Amino acid sequence: MSQPNKPKGEETASQGVDAPASTAADTPAPITAEGILPADHWAQLDESYEDDADSALDDAATSTASITSSILNYRKIHGRTFHSDQGNAQSWFANDEAQRESMDITHHAFTLILGDKLHLAPLEKRKLHKVLDVGTGTGIWAIDFADEHPEAVIIGTDVSPIQPTWVPPNIRFEIEDCTGPWSFEPNSFDYVHLRFLLGSIDNWDLLMQRAFEACAPGGYIESFEPSSYLESDDGTVTGKMAMGQWGKLFVEGGRRMGRSFEVYQKGTVRAALEKAGFVDVHEENFKVPIGGWPKDARLKEIGQITQLGFSKDPEGYMVFLAHTLGWKREETLVYLAHLKRELCSSRIHSFYMQKVIWARKPEA
Ligand SMILES: C[S@@+](CC[C@H](N)C(=O)[O-])C[C@H]1O[C@@H](n2cnc3c(N)ncnc32)[C@H](O)[C@@H]1O
Repeated sequence: MSQPNKPKGEETASQGVDAPASTAADTPAPITAEGILPADHWAQLDESYEDDADSALDDAATSTASITSSILNYRKIHGRTFHSDQGNAQSWFANDEAQRESMDITHHAFTLILGDKLHLAPLEKRKLHKVLDVGTGTGIWAIDFADEHPEAVIIGTDVSPIQPTWVPPNIRFEIEDCTGPWSFEPNSFDYVHLRFLLGSIDNWDLLMQRAFEACAPGGYIESFEPSSYLESDDGTVTGKMAMGQWGKLFVEGGRRMGRSFEVYQKGTVRAALEKAGFVDVHEENFKVPIGGWPKDARLKEIGQITQLGFSKDPEGYMVFLAHTLGWKREETLVYLAHLKRELCSSRIHSFYMQKVIWARKPEA
């Protein structure tokens, strides 16, 4: 096995923003993307990973607007809640309890991946006065950062009001659609943090342009975006497995929504940062194991926590996309049953790639 978690080295940002495709239609067209198995395929398949399905999981034990009732009117798809439509915003994963728990576990795994750090950008405490976390989710990163930096004011924005109310005094959450105009003073943030926004952004160039305007001269921006593909180095994940299909389904769903899930592969963030005017761009790519299969103790722990986070709620990630692809609820559930078995199988040595990229706004 090659070293998981080892930076793969710099990748060339070969393309800019992915061209927005059509918005998800009410009556989706049949899936045409290459390599995607039809939705009814999964009901005909043997449940081949049943034998050790649960063992690995057991192992893992170890805008300044106020929150109005219209915002609280979540959309419901297949019994799961999503944020209500606001402006241009379109969010593809659930915002309910199960998904929030999954996000918080993923945050823990991700902090370990970074070596128990919340950022890789070379931030200096004395220069850190105001920090922005775009698409803050449960606010877990922002809360940890606020605890670590009591000297700074942290603002977390999102379209979903799912943040807790009992938070450190130096943090504030606001409802704001990051794909629309930003309400913040130009040149006001010393650090802008964006994590796991793939599939939510229709125009990364515009997003980074807005972030550039909001960022103070000399301030930093840092982005964390994963690849959607679940892979293996030893052939234990194949294209016909539920895991092998996962990324393809997301890429096709994203194409239909006009919000790319290929930002990792296409170097979209780096291209957008450079276009916006950021300099000193640094990039690290991590292989994140899923499951307790790595021999190295630290990677094993990361793999187990990642597996736990993912297995908690794959539905929350998948339901909106499956709906976009025209899958029936039963088809989605059968696919997810296969996925969960694979996720829990100790014979499968899966991982996903994660990019961390940071850059600086030049001094005025
Ligand atoms: C996968 S979650 C990641 C949350 C958080 N950044 C983290 O790493 O834990 C993505 C978040 O982005 C938010 N989001 C999606 N589209 C958005 C938009 N247009 N403006 C602001 N937030 C958005 C979602 O509501 C969700 O909370």
